[in-house]
Amino acid sequence: MEITDVRKYITENEERFLNELISLLKIPSVSADSAYDKDTQRCAEHVKQSLLDVGVDMAEICQTDGHPIVYAEKMIDPAKPTILVYGHYDVQPADPVELWSSAPFDPEIRDGKIFARGSADDKGQFYMHVKAFEMMNKMDALPCNVKFMIEGEEEVGSSNLGHFVKANKEKLKADVIVISDTSIIDNDTPSITVGLRGLSYVEVEVTGPSKDLHSGVYGGAVDNPVNVLCEMIASLKDENGSITVDGFYDKVEIVSAEDRAMMAEAPFDLNDYMKALDVDAVRPEAGYSAREGTSIRPSLDVNGIWGGYIGEGAKTVLPSKAYAKISMRLVPHQEPDEITALFDAHFRKIAPKSVKINVTAHHGGEPVVIPTDNPGYQAASLAMEKTFGKRPIPERGGGSIPIVALFEKELGLKSILMGFGLDSDDIHSPDEHYGIFNYLKGIETIPFFHKYFAELSAK
Ligand code: BES
Ligand code: MN
Ligand code: MN
Repeated sequence: MEITDVRKYITENEERFLNELISLLKIPSVSADSAYDKDTQRCAEHVKQSLLDVGVDMAEICQTDGHPIVYAEKMIDPAKPTILVYGHYDVQPADPVELWSSAPFDPEIRDGKIFARGSADDKGQFYMHVKAFEMMNKMDALPCNVKFMIEGEEEVGSSNLGHFVKANKEKLKADVIVISDTSIIDNDTPSITVGLRGLSYVEVEVTGPSKDLHSGVYGGAVDNPVNVLCEMIASLKDENGSITVDGFYDKVEIVSAEDRAMMAEAPFDLNDYMKALDVDAVRPEAGYSAREGTSIRPSLDVNGIWGGYIGEGAKTVLPSKAYAKISMRLVPHQEPDEITALFDAHFRKIAPKSVKINVTAHHGGEPVVIPTDNPGYQAASLAMEKTFGKRPIPERGGGSIPIVALFEKELGLKSILMGFGLDSDDIHSPDEHYGIFNYLKGIETIPFFHKYFAELSAK
């Protein structure tokens, strides 16, 4: 397989590749909202058909207790290595819809980018694998067996996929997993994600009086749960930006000065970063850079907070309840369940006697670090070097893909995080987009990943 042939095929089929992605993006497969369940199911059918269309031996919809998983495979030779492609066809809710410049499920191309919910996360990215497979198959140049597992619940924690993986170890037997669901540094600076943070996510409820009260009659004596919640949240980080939850840092991996120096060599311009986000300063944990704050260090953020009267005008009320959703991003060797338990204990401990506390845990996930001294990473690195003309930089990312740790535990397989998005793609935000350059570059690179993986595995 020559790069000239690959580039020619892409040029000749570029328009169709884009139109097919647009059709996929029109399906509002929002996993978190049951109002979209029919669309989510329809999206799975669409993905299955797109795999059959490119020549897999078999494709099926695997029902779960939640949204279905699409599984497909083409086995060319049992003696050849097998690549398992993982991706997700579900998307985040489009809210707040009014902040989009064009409708989230009516894709629009502007400035060489395709704007739609799911364009970068993850439809545009997993679909590159479908189109790369089409090309390899058409050219009779498949060097490896290929399995596809495209799920519909990544954005809600992948718990049913976890059951599926445990129950289907034989079916999922492979030599490596490849995932395109992360970013590169920029279009001239390819990178491969070698770390993902874990996640512990809690919802807290603070209850004061058993019902809302008149803030004049009772304010000044009865404690206000919204005030209390704000005080409690404010105390979760100290003046150094360190998280105060008892025991939180006990197991945190200490990255060596040498590794930190190496990581600091990756290009990063703090001024550009701040400018793009419209902030005048960043505030990472004392002693760490902004990049370190989002990769090798854990973080704690309030994702939402509510309570009391938020309607029009002023209502004088001392609310009965206050709520917040809080996420903690974790680094090796923090355990999500343990961190959730530590948070629960700490939050109860710091609460004044005047309120009652309830903490509920949502989905979580373990952090991962991916080694570079293996055929999977090396193949991805060579493939990107071939198509970008530059060796990619290994970089730890700040996001989470909870299933990756489970793949390793249950299947004994490393995942290669060869994503082609950009951090500026606005995933999960209004105006999510994916560059056409990135989409086509992915399609161009993936066949070389297969080629080099076959070559390196044979050694
Ligand atoms: N694709 C993202 C994760 C990601 C994005 C990793 C960019 C690295 C760079 C994934 O779809 C995602 O959004 N994951 C969730 C976790 C999940 C449990 C909802 C996340 O990170 O918030
Ligand atoms: Mn994703
Ligand atoms: Mn996502």
